[in-house]
Amino acid sequence: MLVAALIERKRDGAPLTPEEWSALIAGYLDGSIPDYQLSALLMAVVFRGMERAELAALTDAMLASGSRLSFGGWGTPRVDKHSTGGVGDKVSLVLAPLVAACGVAVPMMSGRGLGHTGGTLDKLETIPGFRTALTLAEAKEQVMRIGCALFGQTPEIAPADQRLYALRDVTATVEAIPLIAASIMSKKLAEGLSALILDVKQGSGAFLRTHEQSLELARTMISLGEDRGCPTVALLTAMDRPLGRACGNALETEEAIAALRGEGPPDLMEVTYALGVEMLLAAGVERTSSKARKKLESAIGSGLAAEKMEQIIEAQGGNPGVVEDPAALPQALAVEVYDAPATGVIVSIEPRTIGRAIVAMGGGRSKVNDTVDPSVGFVISVKPGDKVLAGEPIASVYARDADGIALACDALGRAIVIGDRRTEPLPLVSHRVTKAGIEVLRAPQAAEKGRGKAKK
Ligand code: URA
Repeated sequence: MLVAALIERKRDGAPLTPEEWSALIAGYLDGSIPDYQLSALLMAVVFRGMERAELAALTDAMLASGSRLSFGGWGTPRVDKHSTGGVGDKVSLVLAPLVAACGVAVPMMSGRGLGHTGGTLDKLETIPGFRTALTLAEAKEQVMRIGCALFGQTPEIAPADQRLYALRDVTATVEAIPLIAASIMSKKLAEGLSALILDVKQGSGAFLRTHEQSLELARTMISLGEDRGCPTVALLTAMDRPLGRACGNALETEEAIAALRGEGPPDLMEVTYALGVEMLLAAGVERTSSKARKKLESAIGSGLAAEKMEQIIEAQGGNPGVVEDPAALPQALAVEVYDAPATGVIVSIEPRTIGRAIVAMGGGRSKVNDTVDPSVGFVISVKPGDKVLAGEPIASVYARDADGIALACDALGRAIVIGDRRTEPLPLVSHRVTKAGIEVLRAPQAAEKGRGKAKK
């Protein structure tokens, strides 16, 4: 196989055959195709896209690159959720133990930070001792014993996604519907699920910025799932501002723990409950949304969800004490309060600027083998629409040193726009997409309507 000829063909807009895609994935994994050739091919896909048969072949080749979890005749329903990526998106850390506490098994395979977005594995690994590299046997045993395992891709499970994901992170090749769809669905279809719920982000901080692209991504992943026997439902959720208040690995873990203890910010809880309701309905443990919602709320209120998190942490070698006392999480060496530079209304908080600043501060990777500083990030206490006075504290910055603080404050100055009139942010949960069609839950308002003049 002449790889350069395949790259050239894709670059010029012609499809590759399913056999060629299988051979490319096999060659990349056995080392006969180097990173630079695969990077070039991925970039060609970013520009040219993939035909349906190509995407199916890529997904199947990635899925077949490793083993799959199999639960045999075990009767407990298994449902997972996956997000297409956002800033401040710590939903998985809350949702997995919460849904497991409601009697649904959650075998959750997640990823690391990708592009400007954070990753569940990096967040979990801020818990001292927490091990995400479970073997297939360990993940299965843990799911069957305590109802949940939180783990990552390994040479045994989803190895093709493990390698491609890391390569895409540092080669600006994330933003492509087929690459996102194949990455997510190849992992999820290896989990032995009864159903899958997708959190498809939309807005300026999502990998795909337009509503239409987010819908297309949702439909693409639903087809891949349903065609392979996994009932799949997607919710479209807002990523035009960070979710919750904390952005950065350890800070997000702390906020997720607070959410499990009943102290989560309202936007994080709304998205978590909406996805949780879908998971309980898909599992068949509840028949109506309102009953499902009540079950989730009472698992938080009774402490069962927080207890489940302690069990998971303990099972994976971590210190469960962080649930009672998050001070055991990594702490930043330098902390500074950021004050509003002007009086007015928060017009917008741009997630990409925040996410990129976290990467630049060491909280994400710019090369494949970079290690991540778990402690850096932001806690932003305002939301679009809030009124602020000049000099009022609106965020805290967590960094390694004074240079990091300066970089972070500069990013906040660009990310947080203060103006004279409120604009309508995207609805937190706007659409529900299934194989049957699209249900509008809350229509987005005209995005730019009434945008106020920015104050500097
Ligand atoms: N999440 C994934 O697992 N893969 C992507 O490509 C994007 C988000």
